[in-house]
Amino acid sequence: MATLAWCIVVLVGLQWGDEGKGAVTDRIARLVRYVVRFQGGPNAGHTLWIGGQKIVLHMVPSGIMYAWIVNIIGAGCVLNLRALVNEITDLRRLGVKVTPKNLRISRDATVILPHHPLLDQAREERAGKKKIGTTGRGIGPAYEDRARRVAVRLGDLLNERRARRAVRRALTELELLLPDNGLTVDYVLNELAPWVAELRPYVCDTAAILHKAWERGEKVMCEGAQGTFLDPLFGTYPFVTSASTLAGAACTGLGFGPTWVDAVVGVLKAYTTRVGSGPFPTELTDEIGDYLQRVGVENGATTGRRRRGGWFDAVLAKRAVLLNGATHVVLTKLDVLSGLQTIRVCVGYEGVRAGTFPQDLDRATPIYEDLPGWDQDISACRSYDELPENCRRYVERIERLVGAKIGAIGVGPDREQVILRPRHWPFTE
Ligand code: IMP
Repeated sequence: MATLAWCIVVLVGLQWGDEGKGAVTDRIARLVRYVVRFQGGPNAGHTLWIGGQKIVLHMVPSGIMYAWIVNIIGAGCVLNLRALVNEITDLRRLGVKVTPKNLRISRDATVILPHHPLLDQAREERAGKKKIGTTGRGIGPAYEDRARRVAVRLGDLLNERRARRAVRRALTELELLLPDNGLTVDYVLNELAPWVAELRPYVCDTAAILHKAWERGEKVMCEGAQGTFLDPLFGTYPFVTSASTLAGAACTGLGFGPTWVDAVVGVLKAYTTRVGSGPFPTELTDEIGDYLQRVGVENGATTGRRRRGGWFDAVLAKRAVLLNGATHVVLTKLDVLSGLQTIRVCVGYEGVRAGTFPQDLDRATPIYEDLPGWDQDISACRSYDELPENCRRYVERIERLVGAKIGAIGVGPDREQVILRPRHWPFTE
């Protein structure tokens, strides 16, 4: 049995997002006092089922389902205020308690302004075939404003004079980019006013809450959004999102130092998917790709777009373990591979020396290793030993290739369909 005295754990996706982080998030969330989002915004999608009803969370952290958890949206996030209020309203309608006691929002977070989604979508339209495939939610333009030092912070909007000054600064900058755009300070303030009024009681200095939590030794789970290869520095640039998706971003997005992080849980799907454009060396455009898409129900939670599917890429996965400093690894959706006669794993790229990583993946041609599949339905398995031999061989081969032990394995869509391997999984009550 692995033991670990932990206070802060960061959970991240090790591929292109949509690794099926939900079940693992839920497992760890049950053990903590705080669930925290540190980057991204309404581009993320996290599907929950409440009493048979589906709800997709975009901004509210997934700990909202547990009454004892304080959920925090940190400074590194970008917020669509209207969408956030609607999300809270939808949760309440389903009987979930959401109050300023169990949801706290950073005053330092960046506000998505009404023109940000329009800019995002206009750019995509103009790029045509070369588009990034963004979610069109204004994520990029909002983070750009922050980097340009003209962003409006949520805290700015709580005071009339400060709000006016901040919005004016943002619009003056926009005027340079888009002359005669017609937007006025009053229009933007009026658009935001009802949502600011609703959210005001939730806004605070969330870094201070986390500092106190750490001093008291309370458990915190930092919930990553998107995935490693959508990171703007180390992802498949320029086909990436606009804020760092790596575990290190939890520190900068929340306001504490790296020495506080006790563990990093990386989530890998047993195959690979990607929504949006960009390189994907192991992509399958044949009937196996269709099979993975269909059996894995691979549609984006935010945009409903069909996810592209392909074989597991161990080169990427190993790189992701290192980029995040993952101390624990989870393999999800292993059941989706049941029934395939042969399962391929990418173990290198042609012409690329082992141990090195190409700058651009668009011309990377995978070298595959073929592993025998299994026929049995594994969705009812709850211990590692119950898995068919070929299935265990697949798991153990991945462990060797990525250089990390797999502590938990997802074998079905239900949150309880998880196999824990106690020797490699310290996150238990
Ligand atoms: P943006 O984050 O909307 O700017 O989109 C940039 C890229 O990240 C696009 O390829 C999106 O499809 C992708 N992306 C953004 N959020 C997610 C997510 O939560 N899961 C998977 N892909 C995402």
